[in-house]
Amino acid sequence: MNPLNRLETLHELTDGFRKANKTIGLVPTMGALHEGHLSLVRQSLEEMDETIVTIFVNPSQFAPGEDLDQYPRTLEQDLEQLAHVGAKHVFVPDSSLIYPPGFSTSIVPPKVAAVLEGEFRPTHFSGVATVVLKLFNMSRADVAFFGQKDYQQVCVIQAMVEDLNVNTQVRVCPIIRESDGLALSSRNRYLDAEQRKTALVLHKTLQHVRDLITSGQNDGFEIVTEMRQMLIDGGVDSIDYAVVADPATLETADFIDGKVVALLAAYVGKTRLIDNLIIG
Ligand code: PAJ
Repeated sequence: MNPLNRLETLHELTDGFRKANKTIGLVPTMGALHEGHLSLVRQSLEEMDETIVTIFVNPSQFAPGEDLDQYPRTLEQDLEQLAHVGAKHVFVPDSSLIYPPGFSTSIVPPKVAAVLEGEFRPTHFSGVATVVLKLFNMSRADVAFFGQKDYQQVCVIQAMVEDLNVNTQVRVCPIIRESDGLALSSRNRYLDAEQRKTALVLHKTLQHVRDLITSGQNDGFEIVTEMRQMLIDGGVDSIDYAVVADPATLETADFIDGKVVALLAAYVGKTRLIDNLIIG
């Protein structure tokens, strides 16, 4: 499969789709594809007439000192996997196409971006929102597919779409996990065998939170204390956040009396992992 890397070629393709009254699905990714990404591609292929997958490791969502340089780049394998699931159109832009000389506009992300990830990665969601809006505009997608794995990212993109009257709908797809519960992530390949075992405590902690809540615990503070303890006992090296929050605003839930989302971010060795679970 030949990836598209020019905007003109992408536009010729999407012009054709539009003229033929075909619906366009978009699956934005940073590559290093795994079953989580492929589940989004499959969903788009099923729902939409045409599907465009993008692969772009977006520099503006990485802060200095984060893993931009080490981020796995596996284009050949990615293209093979995409061909295997039946994706025909893959857009792989150069950084200079997304951020040409003189580029100076960026999105100030919505309020929901300020907490959790936003506290630890203050510039991250501006970079995400900016590139996602550009990819929406470039692809002219009707629907874009995102994973619940990045729960807050979905909240940010949904709020941006609503606030700015963006003409692309957002579809959220479930988290794909290994059989032992570890959420698939491109960053899992940084883990050695021992760390891979330790990483299981993230999902186990979320399940424990669900069990606590379903058995009647409604004190947010008590739950979070147990969450942190379980993560530490399980061997994580540090915790960025471990919370039970309102599923829409991501504000911490002190008293639990309805649907909530448990979210966490923790380091195993030098690898930062995130996971979440909707409860109720
Ligand atoms: P990336 O981390 O490559 O993820 C691309 C998409 O795959 C996201 O929507 C993410 O939530 C989804 N995904 C990742 N792991 C998943 C899993 N285990 N189950 C289900 N979906 C999963 O997220 C990004 O890239 C970037 O921020 C991007 C949106 C492309 C903007 O640069």
